[in-house]
Amino acid sequence: MRKLILLIPVLFALSCQQKASDKNPALAIVKDVHSFAKPEKAIVKHLELDLNVDFVTQIISGKASWTIENISGGTEIVFDSRQLQIQKVTLDTDEKETTFTLGDEIKYLGQSLHVKIDPSTTRVTIYYSASKDAAAIQWLNPQQTAGKKYPFLFTQSQAILARTWIPCQDSPGIRFTYTAKISVPKDLLAVMSAENPQAKNAEGKYSFKQPNPIPSYLMALAIGDLEFKSIDGRTGVYAEPVTLSKAVYEFADMGKMVNSAEKIYGPYKWGRYDVIVLPPSFPFGGMENPMLTFLTPTLIAGDRSLVSVIAHELAHSWSGNLVTNSTWNDFWLNEGFTTYFERRIVEDVYGKDEAGMQELLGFGGLQELIKEMGETNPDTKLKGNYEGRDPDEGVTDIAYEKGYSFLRTIEDAVGRQKFDIFLNEYFNAHAFRSVSSEVFLDDLETKLLKGDKVLKDKIDPNLWVYQPGLPSNSPAVGSVKFKALDSLLAKWAGLLTAGVFNNVKLSSNESLYLISHLPENTTIDQMKVLDQIFKFTSSGNAEIQSAWYVLSIKKGYRPANKNIEAFLTTVGRRKFLMPLYKELVKTPEGKKWAKKIYVNARPNYHSVAYNTIDELLK
Ligand code: BES
Ligand code: ZN
Repeated sequence: MRKLILLIPVLFALSCQQKASDKNPALAIVKDVHSFAKPEKAIVKHLELDLNVDFVTQIISGKASWTIENISGGTEIVFDSRQLQIQKVTLDTDEKETTFTLGDEIKYLGQSLHVKIDPSTTRVTIYYSASKDAAAIQWLNPQQTAGKKYPFLFTQSQAILARTWIPCQDSPGIRFTYTAKISVPKDLLAVMSAENPQAKNAEGKYSFKQPNPIPSYLMALAIGDLEFKSIDGRTGVYAEPVTLSKAVYEFADMGKMVNSAEKIYGPYKWGRYDVIVLPPSFPFGGMENPMLTFLTPTLIAGDRSLVSVIAHELAHSWSGNLVTNSTWNDFWLNEGFTTYFERRIVEDVYGKDEAGMQELLGFGGLQELIKEMGETNPDTKLKGNYEGRDPDEGVTDIAYEKGYSFLRTIEDAVGRQKFDIFLNEYFNAHAFRSVSSEVFLDDLETKLLKGDKVLKDKIDPNLWVYQPGLPSNSPAVGSVKFKALDSLLAKWAGLLTAGVFNNVKLSSNESLYLISHLPENTTIDQMKVLDQIFKFTSSGNAEIQSAWYVLSIKKGYRPANKNIEAFLTTVGRRKFLMPLYKELVKTPEGKKWAKKIYVNARPNYHSVAYNTIDELLK
């Protein structure tokens, strides 16, 4: 009876929500096919994490204490878990032990964890340990770090790996605040996606607090021989001591970037903005963990030429961390918006030329990708469908660059001023919430286009979001700098003499443009000449290295072989590895060589990199 009385207001609220959601899709509960959680029944609100990190056994263990809201007043809450050992689960502050069951193991998703609760339960504490092989965690031995003296650990939770180190409701539509206590070996410093310590302490015990509600994929931890140095009052860099001063030089514009971002889309809501430079096995360029962006050391080119990645991760503080894709099928909302915002920041800090070149390089990559995938391929739609698949498959230039082109199309149609006002309102209206493609389209219609049919037809939002291929109304891209390079390239194609490039100095973007626009029939001898002039093989810029090495493999340009092997063995950034291995497996000799390199290289890669490459080298 009591249950029934409790249920009445809930049912009433749900039925209201149902009706309201017909009119306002923002209120709809979106089903996430990549999570077992049933947030409509019982949902997490706050996490107290208490973990011990043992570098000898390579095991993280402790407890995750969740404050929950039992919305339905039912007797169960469902979490996601994968590779976890659950020891016991208790309820509320008196920690009365309760029962739990684990569902069948499902590929990519792991197991559902069903915990028995009471209608009045407000707290669920899970005692557990993570596996030595947890997919999110990479344990590095001292040899794999810059300093070579201490071990290192970092986590990568996006997209659905948080559940491999924390039992959680692992869906981007579910947010919670957190505090954490982490115990580590005395010589090491721990940092998280939270308010962070700036120096080591003698006990190796660190406390953290994330006061803003975040989705689970933004849970992050790094531990190592780390030091901190400020850039300005609210920005700074964590890195190993041998890397710190180089990193501080490279990323000196971080403070300017935050100021610039605020000028465009309103106040930065997360307090500090710091970055941490990880060992080279980090599988991404950057990861937007709140308050502390995780970065690959390959950004340190020595000339600040790759810092647009920081603009990108910073931009996620609005598009992604503040307003989040509600499921991984809407991933373009995170990355397309962020690529757009990244280029706005780059334009403001480094000028139109720089942003224009990056736009053009991006567009070139997109056209190539769509050609490769086929323009009717459903995976070229912005709204994805990754049910039954690893959402990682959606991490392509469709989300980033087609998403970007769509937003540029809107900007062109309505004018930058109006678009900025709209986006400002969008970030405010949905702050600390998740949105689907449908919510965005609804906002676009009601708040920006306001029934202007001509404008809507000109943009054709549904075509962009729901149809494959690249719409023909995408904005024209062009760069004066690249035009100059085009005429040099034409001359080179005609004469093929080194003289064409005498006294020519190329920026990082120009080098990338040159490498991707060399004539199809470029010979090995011509590559040798170019290499003598521009020193691509021994470049300190990982973007240039990766592009040049792909061409070298394609052409069989052997002078690059030693460097290719060294690059593949040290760098774990998936975006660089994939095109190289893909090119290698195209010939039997290449595949043989790739397999040989892989024996030594694989132990240096994070699971998100080696899982994809294992597949390729099978
Ligand atoms: N959030 C992404 C990285 C990511 C995406 C990790 C999906 C796991 C699943 C990050 O913001 C990102 O986009 N990084 C890019 C850099 C960017 C400048 C394109 C990268 O790592 O290359
Ligand atoms: Zn991103």
